[in-house]
Amino acid sequence: MKRCVLTAPAKINLYLEIIGDRPDGFHELAMVMQSVALADRIEIVSRTSMAQFTQRIQIRCNHPDVPTDESNLAHQAASLLLDRFPDHLAQLGLIEITIDKQLPIAAGLAGGSSNAAAVLVGLDLLAGLGLTQPELCDLAAEIGSDVPFCVMGGTAIATGRGEQVTSIPSPLGLWVLLGKYRHFGISTPWAYKTFRQQFSDRYISDTVGLKQRRDRVHSGSMVEAISHSDRAAIGQLLYNDLERVALPVHPPVAALRQAMAAGTDGQGADVLGAMMSGSGPTVFALLETEDQAVNLRDRVQATLDDPDLDLWVTQCSPTGITVIDA
Ligand code: C5P
Repeated sequence: MKRCVLTAPAKINLYLEIIGDRPDGFHELAMVMQSVALADRIEIVSRTSMAQFTQRIQIRCNHPDVPTDESNLAHQAASLLLDRFPDHLAQLGLIEITIDKQLPIAAGLAGGSSNAAAVLVGLDLLAGLGLTQPELCDLAAEIGSDVPFCVMGGTAIATGRGEQVTSIPSPLGLWVLLGKYRHFGISTPWAYKTFRQQFSDRYISDTVGLKQRRDRVHSGSMVEAISHSDRAAIGQLLYNDLERVALPVHPPVAALRQAMAAGTDGQGADVLGAMMSGSGPTVFALLETEDQAVNLRDRVQATLDDPDLDLWVTQCSPTGITVIDA
């Protein structure tokens, strides 16, 4: 038996701009992604036995709404490695993956993508594949657009469909308040499809224009603010195109964003900025200290007074997937 335990952290988008369409049906994006400390825990156990397995991969999860079949991205990650490295993975036998789900699902926090990234990293270790980070990222891109970032973690610029990831130094000392209504999710395909219906007339289609936009995020003000750990500027420069489709049709998400932006005194005190993450519906606020984040959590809870609202205080993290036991 071999065993490995990893953390699979959530991400937030500090910047998400949709710049055009792609021939593969996806969107061309310019993003700045950030890992946070809040994480799922992934345990991978491999068992060899003489018995023939009907299924080489088994997924268990403590969350009843997480699928345990091939649609689970963690399952897809294990299948991909079995397919590409059959000889190395033969020695592992049955692969049991247990997901201790702490992150909300369908939330815009890349929880499923992060689980898949943890499985790639964990199986690489258990099977002794010795894959480099670029090799892991290439495999990750076959599973989903956010999976390469989840492999790298920390802070990164992501372009293309999100899979072209360039790490940058992480901003120091940013606390994060996350909020999500427990029984409400947003489908990522719905968000992008709706954006295309409403705003595709503004898409850039020429390759020179697309390159200029991609380059602009690399040298843009958000990246500069991050490089100086200018926390006030980071808060002011938060941007997410998908808010334009999600907020008008989901008033509770807009109300949550407003409550976070109102800060600890209702006038914006302490909060550096508030925004929806990814395709939502999770909303986050950035703050300078843990005390401020706790105070804002209490105020948002009291203002909205909704038993369906979950809130988490966490921190921007300079690391992604971490092996905690092997
Ligand atoms: O890559 P991933 O499976 O996470 O994408 C989920 C869905 O989000 C895609 O099927 C597509 O509808 C949309 N998407 C997009 N453009 C991107 C990333 C995602 O249109 N760059």
